[in-house]
Order: sequence, then structure tokens, then C-alpha cells
Amino acid sequence: MNYFSEISHIIDYGLAGDKKKLVSQIKMLVSQLEKNGEKDEAKALKIKLNNKIISNNTYTQNALYQKPIPVEKDNRFPLADYETFSENDIWLALPEHIETKVEQFLINLNHRDKLETKGIPINPTILLYGEPGTGKSKLAAYIAAKLSLPLITARSDALVSSYLGSTSKNIRMLMDYAKERECVLFLDEFDALAKGRDDSNEVGELKRVVVSLLQNIDALDNVILIAATNHPHLLDRAVWRRFQYKIEVPLPNRESRKDIATKWLQGSISSKVLNLFSDISEGISGAEIENIVFEYKRECILNDYGKNEKENRLLQLLVSNLYPDITFIKRNRKYDILKVKEKFNNLSAEKIGLIFGLSKQRIATVLREEKVNA
Ligand SMILES: Nc1ncnc2c1ncn2[C@@H]1O[C@H](COP(=O)(O)OP(=O)(O)O)[C@@H](O)[C@H]1O
Ligand SMILES: [Mg+2]
Repeated sequence: MNYFSEISHIIDYGLAGDKKKLVSQIKMLVSQLEKNGEKDEAKALKIKLNNKIISNNTYTQNALYQKPIPVEKDNRFPLADYETFSENDIWLALPEHIETKVEQFLINLNHRDKLETKGIPINPTILLYGEPGTGKSKLAAYIAAKLSLPLITARSDALVSSYLGSTSKNIRMLMDYAKERECVLFLDEFDALAKGRDDSNEVGELKRVVVSLLQNIDALDNVILIAATNHPHLLDRAVWRRFQYKIEVPLPNRESRKDIATKWLQGSISSKVLNLFSDISEGISGAEIENIVFEYKRECILNDYGKNEKENRLLQLLVSNLYPDITFIKRNRKYDILKVKEKFNNLSAEKIGLIFGLSKQRIATVLREEKVNA
């Protein structure tokens, strides 16, 4: 074996955790390879080495002296949260095209060395945008879990300071912290930092914040950066260009709505009710579905409903969530039935009956009477 002695030393220093000697030994191996004309291999190792030196982690991460999250100077608030996730803890129902994009991103990252050896830079940045409660923050955690890296979530309330110049300083401190370790840096509520520069209401300070934010993003090199916003239209145009992947996270489609409800209901519902729930919940987010299901389950427990006894309450909670003036109070029943008919206009008397826990004949009678009166 040509490089036995170098490799043997590398193993010794690696096992002993002596980073300084390890790095110098790897550098020796690189120059040996170069001398022997094995250019591709030398380059691959060099890149590996650079990435590791920049992110200076592996050893310090598990070490006793892990550096604390930087804090805001004036009020001592931490600028970020540090969390680790396991893949099994995170479940998301996403449309296939988004799953594919995320997979692509992960594949690129996992083949980073190979791509960079061939001179293809990778820019590990994602901008997630879409309605609130569509799973953007959760997706960031999922990506960190898939990469087995900690997620460092910036706290925009702590970063954005009312003191002149402090916001930029905070951003810089946080980014420096992220650069020192292998991690996923997550800038949630990104619009709070990256608002457009053309907004005439805003003063020079904000422009400076965006400019320094962009400079800091450019200097992040190898840090995996995810940003998320519910207000993409507020973002400065120059900000968009910094991100390689721009992923719109949509409101859940029928299939996803059904999956999310099923996941939390855990089989305690008839398929008739579940299907109607999925049909008429268009336009609501995954977070809202979760809330409705949990509210339903709370009611079931507190009122001691037997299995399937009151499952129409699930539909009622959904309808009230969409249209708060439909209250399902008994004395308003007629009004409620007519309103449901008006809002969900293709709904049969049978399905309306399912919502109210009444027979389709009863519903048909109410609707008929109304027609006669009109
Ligand atoms: N597509 C989805 N699949 C499964 N759960 C979802 C989905 N979208 C939202 N949720 C649930 O709603 C919660 C809130 O979502 P979150 O990630 O905070 O949304 P966002 O960051 O887009 O506002 C999540 O923790 C998750 O449990
Ligand atoms: Mg969020």
C-alpha cells in the first residue's frame, strides 16, 4: 500500500482527537498525492479539508466546551435556538413535486465532495415561502434531521434591534457562530430581516440591514442556509437571487388534508366523515387541520363521547373554522343549514345531514320550506 504510513498516522491522530496533527498529516498526504500525479484524489481531499476547517466542528461539537449561542448585547436575549431532531419525529404530508425538490437538495449535499472535485460548486441555500401553517418550519427541521445536523433557528425578535446598527451586528454574530460548526442555519420569518429596500416608508437603517444581510449570506460559504417567509412579496429582489432553491410550500391538497387528519385522528372516525372532511376543507392549512382535530379529540374526551357517537362534531368544528358565523347552536339551526348550503353549494342533503347529525329528509324539508318562503 503506497500511503500506508500517512494513513496509519491519520487514523492515530483521528482516534486521539488531535485535530491539529490530523490536519497536518492529511496535508502531507495531499502533497504526496500531488507529487505522484494523482491530482483528482489530491483535490478531493483538499476540498474535504477546507470544508472541515471552515466548519471547524466534528471535535468541538461533542466537546465539553461547546460555545453558547450568541446573545443580543443590550438585553442578553439569545439570538437563536439550537435544536436537534430525529427523522422519525418528523412527519409531513407534502405534494410529490416538493418532496422531489427536497430530495434533490439532499442528494447534492451528500455528493458535495464529488461535485466540487469536478468544479461544480454547490450553493446549499433554500428559500421556503407560502401561507402560514403550511409546514415550512417543520420542513427545515426535517432537512436538518435528514442531514443529522443541528438546526440553529434565528430569533428574529432578538435579532432585530431598535438600536441603530445593532441589527447588522447581531446578524453578523449569529452567522459567525453558524460558520464555526456544521449545522443548518434557519432564518425563520425572513421578511423581518429582508424587507424590500424600495419601501419608501422605511429609513436608511433598514437598507443598511438588507445590504449587510446580503453580504453576510454571501460570506456563509459552506453553511447550509434555509430561510422561510409567509410574505414573499415583501422580500427584496436581490435576496431571491441568493437562494439556489426557491420552494413554494402550498396549502395541502385533498390527499394531504386527508393524510393529516387521518394521522391525528388515528382511525377513530368513519370513512364517510373523513372523506367529507377532506372535500370541504379546501383552503385551510395543515396547522389548522391539526388544531381542529385536536379540538375534536379534546371534546370527545371531556364529554365522554363513545366511539363514533358524535363524529359530526369534527365536521362542525371545521365549518365553524371556515365560517365563524355558522355556530351550530340549536336555536340557529335553520340559519346554519341554509348558510352551509350557500357556502358549500354542491353539497347534497345527505352530506349536509352528516354535518348536522340529521337525516337527509330533515335537511330536505328545511331547504324546501325556505324555497316556498322565498
Ligand atoms: N403539510 C403538512 N403535513 C403535516 N403536518 C403539517 C403540514 N403543514 C403543517 N403541518 C402541521 O402544522 C404545524 C405548523 O406548521 P409550521 O411548520 O409551523 O408552518 P409554517 O412554518 O409554514 O407556518 C406543523 O408543526 C405540523 O405539525
Ligand atoms: Mg414557521
